[in-house]
Amino acid sequence: MKTKALLEPYTLPCGLTIKNRIAKAAMTERLANKKQQATKELSQLYNLWSNNGAGLLVTGNIMVDSRYKEASANIVLENESGLKPLEEMVKAGTQNNTHLWAQINHAGRQASIFSTFKPIAPSAIQLKKLMLFAKPKAMTADEIKDVENRFVTTAKLSKKAGFTGVQIHAAHGYLLSQFLSPKTNERTDDYGGSIDNRARLLFNIVQRVREEVGENYPISVKLNSADFQRGGFNEEDALYVIKTLEKLKIDLLEISGGTYENIIFLTQRYERESTKQREAYFLDFAKKIRKETALPIMVTGGFRSHAFCNEVLNNKELEMIGFARPFLTNKSFPKNFLEDENSKIGDATFKFKIKKMKDFAEAGFYDYQIHQLAKGKEIKPKYNPYLAVLRLTTNELIKGWF
Ligand SMILES: Cc1cc2nc3c(=O)[nH]c(=O)nc-3n(C[C@H](O)[C@H](O)[C@H](O)COP(=O)(O)O)c2cc1C
Repeated sequence: MKTKALLEPYTLPCGLTIKNRIAKAAMTERLANKKQQATKELSQLYNLWSNNGAGLLVTGNIMVDSRYKEASANIVLENESGLKPLEEMVKAGTQNNTHLWAQINHAGRQASIFSTFKPIAPSAIQLKKLMLFAKPKAMTADEIKDVENRFVTTAKLSKKAGFTGVQIHAAHGYLLSQFLSPKTNERTDDYGGSIDNRARLLFNIVQRVREEVGENYPISVKLNSADFQRGGFNEEDALYVIKTLEKLKIDLLEISGGTYENIIFLTQRYERESTKQREAYFLDFAKKIRKETALPIMVTGGFRSHAFCNEVLNNKELEMIGFARPFLTNKSFPKNFLEDENSKIGDATFKFKIKKMKDFAEAGFYDYQIHQLAKGKEIKPKYNPYLAVLRLTTNELIKGWF
């Protein structure tokens, strides 16, 4: 078997080349200032990552609307005012021929109460989790059009800021994913019902973003293989969406899965023994779609060993491999990982007894590590997860409300 597949460059359909097969998947940084603009810490973070060897860095979600953020300190890019500081961050993140793509997002009903008490969503169906999310208002047709326009504007501004590509976040239960799922979309107009209708907003956005950025600019979509909830967006729906995205000429499909109600993108390990050994959650789905589409595929979630990455690349199961937490458990990842065929990277282990809040603790734990790196400090693998919850909540509260 051919080795070193991770080191091979990959040329996207739009004609641009990524220097190797490792991507840093999006991780929300929560490091913007009060004006929701990029900061020195963000530049420092992306300086580190663009010097560590990954071919592609996808930013944490950048919001298209300051009213409906995923977190209090998200970057928002809705007009030209935030361009200058963002350009600094882009400069830092594109060194060494590294691609830096802006992930653009709208939280919809997953905008927390620290961001808004009046979220909007396809239907007025509340996310009931730790009392952190208010009941959303069902969007009007005008509001849907406004969201479409906003995604296009943010994509255009991202290109202007120097990002070398853009990723539209349609996964993990955020607004576009809410439209896709029958569990959160009970509309009876052109945006609800059939999968074609539920995907209409996403398709319109992709089509218009392509018109705006031109054919030589990478567009990626992050999509759930499924929501992993009964009655939710399923693999059949996903397949339909993917086939249409291919017609709309995107450059990279990132596969993930789950929502805040079932955060499978962080926790899921398939039960089948064979898949467990193969480590990656969404690979089975990637295999299915491989037969149906020629779209370049990236899968994110659970990759931890060089040998296994090499195997799936050599099998032509995927084009790019997405990693998130490994960037926060090893400061120099993927420097050695890329070259060393025997390298494996472990996950942080921490004990946290409050089951209902475990994912919150995990988010807090990794948020702390991002902030450490952004300050030029070391990762702290033994950071207390209870403190992590307290710190995250306090930050959200202070940055959101004061
Ligand atoms: C701290 C943290 C923040 C994340 N933020 C985002 C985000 O902003 N957008 C996104 O699409 N996924 C986000 N994710 C999910 C990751 O991109 C990825 O899908 C998930 O962590 C699984 O990959 P891994 O097993 O390599 O960590 C986040 C994950 C973590 C750990």
